[in-house]
Amino acid sequence: MENIFLSLGGSEILKDVSFHLRKGETGVILGASGSGKTTALRLILGLLKPDSGRVFVDGEDITDFSEEELLRVRARMGMVFQAGALFDSMTVGENVAYRLMEKGGFSAEETEEKVRRSLRFVGLEDSIDQMPSELSGGMKKRVAIARGIVASPAIMLYDEPTAGLDPLNSRNITNLIKRLKEEQGVTSVVVTHDIPLAFEVADYTAFLHDGAVCYIGGTEGLVKTGTECVREFIDHSGCADLARGERRDFADGGLR
Ligand SMILES: Nc1ncnc2c1ncn2[C@@H]1O[C@H](COP(=O)(O)OP(=O)(O)O)[C@@H](O)[C@H]1O
Ligand SMILES: [Mg+2]
Repeated sequence: MENIFLSLGGSEILKDVSFHLRKGETGVILGASGSGKTTALRLILGLLKPDSGRVFVDGEDITDFSEEELLRVRARMGMVFQAGALFDSMTVGENVAYRLMEKGGFSAEETEEKVRRSLRFVGLEDSIDQMPSELSGGMKKRVAIARGIVASPAIMLYDEPTAGLDPLNSRNITNLIKRLKEEQGVTSVVVTHDIPLAFEVADYTAFLHDGAVCYIGGTEGLVKTGTECVREFIDHSGCADLARGERRDFADGGLR
C-alpha cells in the first residue's frame, strides 16, 4: 500500500498509510480497535477504493481494477474474517468446500480431497460431518482457516484471528499461521491487537493509530523505537514485558 488516504462517512479513516510486504513474508498490522486495520484489509481485497494512493498485489497495481479483474486477484487470496462467519446450516466439510464451489471446476473427488487436506492441516479432519454449532470457538476459527486455504492461496489475510480465544487456542492458530508460511511459502497479512501473536508471526509490523502508521519495522523495534502511542498500547496490553523481550519464555507459553 502506498500513501493511502481514505475517508468514509465524512471522516478520514486512513491517513497516508504505506505498507510493503515481500513475497513469503508475514506482515502484521497492529493497532487498537477503530485504528483502521480492517479497512486496510478491505483495500487489499479491493472491496474499498482509496481516495488517493495505490494498492499493489503481486506487484500489480489493483487500485483501478474492475470488479472482474479483482475477482481474479481475490482468487489468489484466502481470507479469515473477524467473526469466523461459518454457515450454520452447512456441515464443516461443506463450509470448507464453499470456496471451491464458488470458484467452480472441481470434481466431487477433487473437492473432497482438498477439503480433507485442509481440515487435516488444521487438525479437524474428523469433524468433517459436524455442524458448526457442535464446535468450540477455537475449532470454528480453525475451520475458517481451513476454508481460507482450501483453494491453495498464495496470500492469506487474517482479521483478528485470535480474538476471543483462550491462550491455548490462540497458540494453535499462531502455529497454523507460521506453518503456512514455513511449509507452503504463503504470504500473510495478519490484522490484530494481540501482541503475543504479533511477536510470534511478524516479519514486519505496521502499527496503526487513528488511521496513521506510527511505527513500521520488526517487532523488536516496537518498544525501543516506537512512538508514544505504541508504548501506551503495549503498556496496556498486559504483555509489556514480553514486548520488551524480558519474558521470551512467554512467547512459547509452555502450551504446545
Ligand atoms: N463504512 C464506514 N463508514 C464510516 N466509518 C467507517 C466505515 N467503516 C469503518 N469506519 C470507521 O473507520 C474506523 C476504522 O475502522 P476499522 O478499520 O474497522 O478499525 P479496526 O479494524 O482497526 O477496529 C472506525 O472509526 C470505524 O468506525
Ligand atoms: Mg477490525
